[in-house]
Amino acid sequence: MRLQLMTWPEVATYLERSRGMLVPIGSTEQHGPTGLIGTDALTAEGLALATGEAAGAVVAPTLPIGMAQHHLGFPGSASLRPSTLLALVRDVVSSFAVTGFRRFLFINGHGGNVAPLRAAFSELYAESSFAGVPGEVRCALCNWYEASALAPFVREMYGEAEGSHATPSEVALAAYYHPGQLRPIPLDPPVAPDGHDFQDAADYRRRFPDGRIGSNPALAREEHGARIHALVVGELVERYRTFLAEA
Ligand code: NI
Repeated sequence: MRLQLMTWPEVATYLERSRGMLVPIGSTEQHGPTGLIGTDALTAEGLALATGEAAGAVVAPTLPIGMAQHHLGFPGSASLRPSTLLALVRDVVSSFAVTGFRRFLFINGHGGNVAPLRAAFSELYAESSFAGVPGEVRCALCNWYEASALAPFVREMYGEAEGSHATPSEVALAAYYHPGQLRPIPLDPPVAPDGHDFQDAADYRRRFPDGRIGSNPALAREEHGARIHALVVGELVERYRTFLAEA
């Protein structure tokens, strides 16, 4: 259930049977010469909507811009500072908590969001900890690209060419949600340079000139995206049900 397409009495009725919510979070950033700028938000949203449908859960509006300062050397990228993203997540969760939600499962499509999200969860928990009272809000994070159900498929289809940014798996998943968007443009080299521990935007662009890290997204196919979708949604539904059942 998409929160944006519900009315407040419908949300009130939902809250009588569940306090859970799925929150898709992505990024707006370059994904190499062939990957869509919206990849991380589009994938998180597609997975969250399907998970919400299967689990009967409310899905919050997608948070479309994340912490992606290292991508700002490429046109079309946007970033929140880590402190801005932390404050955004804290306010969004606090808002929904005031209206009755208690369990927030974030479905995340972008590695740069992980540290600010975890810090935001700690900020939320700190409120009850410092007040010396038991808190009611619980947050959890699922980085869809780390789904254990996904790993064997990715290994088989892409091997080492999966890389870690502008990966064939995320490009395939975005193409599944938006058919006709794969760009058949030659990539040179086919597999991008690998690495990690990049710093600012200039450092990133110097190390990874076309934006990709260790990947060959030319391997992506729309039909792979359908398989990735099914594998990951299955795992997310289980994760959500477990999360709601936890104390
Ligand atoms: Ni991405």
